Amino acid sequence: MSLSQSPIRDSFGSKFGIIAAAAGSAVGLGNIWKFPYITGQNGGGAFLLIYLLCVILIGVPVMMSEFAIGRRGQRNAFGSFKALSPNKPWYMVGLMGVVAAFFILAFYSAVAGWTLEYIVQSVTHRFANQSTANLQTSFNSFISGTYRPVIWQLIFMALTAAIVIAGVKKGIEKYTKLLMPILVLLILILCLRSVTLDGAMAGLSFLFKPDFSKITGETILFALGQAFFSLSLGMGTLITYASYFGKNENLALTAVQVSLADTIIAVLAGVMIFPAVFAFNIEPASGPSLVFITLPGIFQQMPGGDIFGAIFFVLLAVAALTSTISVLEVVVAYFAEELKLSRKKATLLASVSIAVLGIFASLSFGPLANFKIFGKGVFDLLDFTASNVLLPLGGLFIVLFIGWYFTKDLTRAELSNENKLRVRFFPAYIFIVRFVAPLAITAIFIYSIFIGGLG
Ligand code: PHE
Repeated sequence: MSLSQSPIRDSFGSKFGIIAAAAGSAVGLGNIWKFPYITGQNGGGAFLLIYLLCVILIGVPVMMSEFAIGRRGQRNAFGSFKALSPNKPWYMVGLMGVVAAFFILAFYSAVAGWTLEYIVQSVTHRFANQSTANLQTSFNSFISGTYRPVIWQLIFMALTAAIVIAGVKKGIEKYTKLLMPILVLLILILCLRSVTLDGAMAGLSFLFKPDFSKITGETILFALGQAFFSLSLGMGTLITYASYFGKNENLALTAVQVSLADTIIAVLAGVMIFPAVFAFNIEPASGPSLVFITLPGIFQQMPGGDIFGAIFFVLLAVAALTSTISVLEVVVAYFAEELKLSRKKATLLASVSIAVLGIFASLSFGPLANFKIFGKGVFDLLDFTASNVLLPLGGLFIVLFIGWYFTKDLTRAELSNENKLRVRFFPAYIFIVRFVAPLAITAIFIYSIFIGGLG
């Protein structure tokens, strides 16, 4: 088994850098516009409980598996599988991750670009005295435009590429260490503003009050699908990052810390959004309309709303940026190591080609609205294929690889840092990656493909 490490391979320089980068990947648009709404709609506290169980029982073990593959393989997602299993087609799983990264970044960067437009709109007081109908019209006319959304998307891609091109330690680690504390500070400021509004309690009870009557089999699948996307599992992001971890990093502990940070931020996003939505008597919506229509409507009625609006969109942009760099790194590491390109060339090649696909995704809200493949516009098709097909399938093969192909001894050696750490959880972990996780992921997969979208 070839585990040779290239002498110039970059790495993370500190424990905090690892947590900032991995939590930065996990905390993204998924936490802020999806989690709060799904929770409110699906039984509040009852859903939260199920979500926590999904994170602890399945999310954390899958994350540990990705960490183990990446750190042992010492390569990009494709190369790590190839190093650990030279003559078997497991590298296809890594390749699927690279393709998923390509697709995810193409549509995610479009939305990330919108956050930049909305920062500008907040500071130039564009939400003032607008009715919800006006805000809706202006959002729709913005995203269906030809140039503005595309230009913002390209600016966002350029920012992402500028960080990635600087390397793991000097780019990704340096900026996530700076951005993640800012993100936490901004979200705390907004939570404080929101819970001190008159009538905030109704929002908190929408979010937290457990209503077990809303829990069905489907709710559990929703929770699992959301946990997967939110923790950045299934496409090799965490395999790639773990290939830059040091030999003494405690993989299980890191997985727990990253998952905890991601979950806390998701809950805080709910605490930030729902008290405000209820205080102003607005029907909670989901997805883009919650963030780009409902919330601007609230900010303009709130004392100091322009400032809080700007803070909110900066928060969204920061959350998106620390995720987009992790997605770009999957493709860059693959290009650099497998095509033997310099980091600079690999970053340029990856970001330019993703940006081209991204432009099609952006234009599918406007000029290309009628261009459909399998009945879906480009944006929706990329989102569906990546989130509903490639991520769950990738996650499934990752746990099957660790559970059934990679030997228990090697897995134990990797998780215990060659027997330096005690791994009392090991039997439970193996049981999960062999049986529980594959069955649960297969269930989400079948559900999301044949019955309805989770993405
Ligand atoms: N976890 C990110 C979010 O919640 C999205 C993401 C998915 C990032 C997969 C990397 C890989 O928005």
